[in-house]
Amino acid sequence: MKKRVALAYSGGLDTSVAVGWLGAELGYEVIAVAVDVGQDVDFDALRKRAIAAGAVEVEVVDAREELLADFAMPTLAANALYEGRYPLVSALSRPVIVRHLVAAARRHGASAVAHGATGKGNDQVRFEVGTRALAPDLEMLAPVRVWGMTREETIDYAERHDIAVTVSKDRIYSIDANIWGRAIECGVLEDPWVAPPEDVFALTVPVAVEPVEVTVGFEQGVPVALDGTQLGLVALVGEIGRVAGSVGFGRVDMVEGRRVGIKSREIYECPGALALIMAHADLEGLTLERDVAHEKARLEPRFAELVYDGMWFSPLRQAMSAFMTSTQRCVTGEVRLRFSPGGGAEVVGRRSPVGLYVYDLATYDAADAFRHEDGEGFVRLFGLGIQTWSARQGGAE
Ligand code: ARG
Repeated sequence: MKKRVALAYSGGLDTSVAVGWLGAELGYEVIAVAVDVGQDVDFDALRKRAIAAGAVEVEVVDAREELLADFAMPTLAANALYEGRYPLVSALSRPVIVRHLVAAARRHGASAVAHGATGKGNDQVRFEVGTRALAPDLEMLAPVRVWGMTREETIDYAERHDIAVTVSKDRIYSIDANIWGRAIECGVLEDPWVAPPEDVFALTVPVAVEPVEVTVGFEQGVPVALDGTQLGLVALVGEIGRVAGSVGFGRVDMVEGRRVGIKSREIYECPGALALIMAHADLEGLTLERDVAHEKARLEPRFAELVYDGMWFSPLRQAMSAFMTSTQRCVTGEVRLRFSPGGGAEVVGRRSPVGLYVYDLATYDAADAFRHEDGEGFVRLFGLGIQTWSARQGGAE
């Protein structure tokens, strides 16, 4: 029997040529695995293209719900934003794809898995480290990193080997999209000084002329309802994304530090993800005990880094998620988000049946139930050390 490889197949130029290349140059039978993470792709056409390129099997997996439930929700629990801004769109889809690649490799008796990522990006790291974590015995192949062909040479290779590809020579941007958002690179965007042209945006084209308000309901840190209507994750994330995007909210333009040491200019549009993180973080303000909230905030950037760096299946990410999960037990309640034309979004209200806000303690009105006399002793002891220091060793000024 010929050796087999499970290839993460996108239907694009590189992975189509990779199907032919893995067969012709390395002698593999290729199982093409296409994972639907909510990218805008015609999967029937993709199936035919994989077969035409020479794949012996094609698997199409709908992993949208799984991407959200198993990857985006734990990341939302951590309010994770890489370098403070990027909600990890591409970084979240790679581990889902890896999971299905490994499963397909097992089902079809493949000894290797392959991906179409280049040598310059983060995605190679995520595919390979992820695969090693789930299946240390499988071989890893990265044809695009190995073959060293330019885009034109890749198109020539496809023509010479009769691989049907649909390419537009004027393709300007490299886009990676899923249900959590969209990443756009290349073309004029490679100059960090140049403002992104409007035509790079698809999810955040402003059309709304009036402010829109949405109430997001959370249960244990997971969004479950919009305006009181219970929704599944796929529907909910899609809907809040549409509303937030309609005012132009959700754009990120940043220069980002890749794992491989390259700074790159990235444009993201993540209206739904950023709106949910904003709402979730606000609800935590109401429901998390102070020390837990502060410690959690210190861990969140580290969590984001781990996910970005392709360490999803690492023991540290798992341990940190165990902590995050335990903090979410009472992150239940509702948050009012207001989106304004011009791209603004803000939280304008929040409530929770288990909130830690106690009106009788917080109020300055007649209802005040706080024992003011307790303040005196508390503050005296709190300041005792510094008072002694000042008296004995001289003050600060
Ligand atoms: N820089 C982002 C990340 O590393 C986006 C990568 C997008 N990938 C792509 N193949 N266009 O997560």
